[in-house]
Amino acid sequence: MRLKDCHGFSDFRELAKRRLPSPIFNYIDGAADDETTYERNTKSFEKCDLVPNVLRGTEDIDMSVNIMGQKLEMPIYCSPTAIQRVFHHEGENAVAAAADKYGTLFGVSSLGTASLAEIREQYKGPQCYQFYFHKDRELNQSMLESAKNANVDVMMLTVDTITGGNRERDLRTGFSIPFQLSLGGIFQFAIKPMWALNYLTHKKFALPQLDDFVDMSDGPISIGRYFTEMLDPKMNWDDVAKMVDYWDGEFCLKGIMSAEDAKKAVEIGCTGIVVSNHGGRQLDGSRSSFDQLSEIVDAVGDQIDVIMDSGIQRGSHVLKALSLGAKAVGGGRFYLYALAAAGQLGVERALELMKQEIERDMRLMGVSSISELSRNNLRFR
Ligand SMILES: Cc1cc2nc3c(=O)[nH]c(=O)nc-3n(C[C@H](O)[C@H](O)[C@H](O)COP(=O)(O)O)c2cc1C
Repeated sequence: MRLKDCHGFSDFRELAKRRLPSPIFNYIDGAADDETTYERNTKSFEKCDLVPNVLRGTEDIDMSVNIMGQKLEMPIYCSPTAIQRVFHHEGENAVAAAADKYGTLFGVSSLGTASLAEIREQYKGPQCYQFYFHKDRELNQSMLESAKNANVDVMMLTVDTITGGNRERDLRTGFSIPFQLSLGGIFQFAIKPMWALNYLTHKKFALPQLDDFVDMSDGPISIGRYFTEMLDPKMNWDDVAKMVDYWDGEFCLKGIMSAEDAKKAVEIGCTGIVVSNHGGRQLDGSRSSFDQLSEIVDAVGDQIDVIMDSGIQRGSHVLKALSLGAKAVGGGRFYLYALAAAGQLGVERALELMKQEIERDMRLMGVSSISELSRNNLRFR
């Protein structure tokens, strides 16, 4: 199986599975507890159907959207995700370059394996910085200042990781960063020699946003331990209000799931929220983002940019979310499997196929621009 054989989400997933050592594949592919929320995230889109209109002359399609002061050429962006260089040696650079080519937003994670300043320097398209709020206030301040100095367009604070989700697949495989050469790990390297060769012969693993502050001298740490030991469980609305004031620009909360919290985000001056359950990786049993979207759009949709992520695999999912009132959507695994499968070329192909699907579906729906989508073209079963 090659990149040219990938025609959609499940093909990229299959190719990633073939190319990655299984602990790494399972880190991407897995979620919390019994993974019920993860599964429901995509299934939720089946609860409603699109109702197309015909004979509307949809020759010219404009799928661009504006969120938080940024123009996105397509309504889906690459959600910030951790340690991309473990998935493919081109890492964040590959995703940033592909997003830049397609004119869409890309986010560098606090746990990114490339420096946000270097990425900003190289790619001028819309970029956000995904912030984790640490116990170490000096680290928080240093990260905020670096993002400000780098002229990042949007600050995106993730608020659904007050503690780590219970990722049982990672517990079983012993997944940690940097990837550990345990006995099982050596076996995984041995059966995926191309991945191993690339990982070992390219730039050494690093977490540039955290390197000065994280002590890995005791050996690798698990992502669960990072969340539990380094992130601040006391983080509250006052802390975030101070950050919003300090940032003094586009500020977004990622991981809002209740209308009540969405209203608070408006009150403290945020300009965007991402309705997200972290791709099912945090609170299992949490509602799916799509199921929760209309409630939040109804509460604050006229005061703040409501965006959603979690579960998006298809162009039709994007159109359903936008019809319900989301201003844009984010995706994680749809580009991560493609990154793992083939680096930048893979992410470009994932974005290209998604763009084609959205464009085709817009034509079939009889709409030429995203603003023509509304709840009128949806029916719930
Ligand atoms: C492997 C992986 C790593 C992730 N790392 C981060 C991260 O560092 N920060 C963050 O806010 N969200 C992170 N996320 C969550 C994504 O930003 C996004 O919310 C989620 O992937 C959306 O669900 P989807 O994968 O079904 O599209 C990660 C998700 C995955 C799959």
